[in-house]
Amino acid sequence: MTQERTLILLKPDAVKRQLRGEIIRRIEQKGYTILALDQRTASHEELTAHYAEHEGKPFFPPMLEFMSSGPLVALVVAGDECIAGMRSLMGATQPTQAAPGTIRGDLGRAWDKPVIENLIHGSDSPESAAREIGIWFPSLAA
Ligand code: TYD
Ligand code: MG
Repeated sequence: MTQERTLILLKPDAVKRQLRGEIIRRIEQKGYTILALDQRTASHEELTAHYAEHEGKPFFPPMLEFMSSGPLVALVVAGDECIAGMRSLMGATQPTQAAPGTIRGDLGRAWDKPVIENLIHGSDSPESAAREIGIWFPSLAA
C-alpha cells in the first residue's frame, strides 16, 4: 500500500458542460477519498505557477485563457497509488486518442481548437502532486 495524494482540476469545460458530478462519481467509485474540493475562477498567478513547465510553448497563452474562462473545481484526492491511478482514469491528453472507459475518452470532445480542452488535470508524479497541492491548497501542503 502506498497512500498518496494528488491534485485534480475539473477544468472550465467540465463545469460548463455540467460534468462535475459524473467525473466525481468515477473518482469515488474507484475508492479514492476527496480530502478537499473548491470551485473558483483561477487567478493568473495560480495558473502560471501550475503550468510553469509549459511556459513558452505555443499553446500556453490560449491554455491560460481557457483555464481562466470560467470556474474550475480543484480537488485533493487521496488513495492507494492514486497519482498513477487518476492518470489512468483520465486517459490520454488528447480526447481523440483517449481510450473508451476513461474520463477524457468517454466525455472529452475532439474539435479543432488551438488548445486541447480535455476536462481534467491530474498530477503526473509525487513531486508534481506536492508542488501543485501547495499552489491550490496551501493549507494542505506537506
Ligand atoms: P500535458 O501536461 O502535456 O498533458 P496532461 O494534462 O495530460 O498532463 O499538457 C497540459 C495541458 O496543456 C493539456 O491537458 C492540454 C494542454 N495542451 C495543449 O493545449 N496542447 C498541447 O499540444 C499539449 C501538449 C497540451
Ligand atoms: Mg501534465
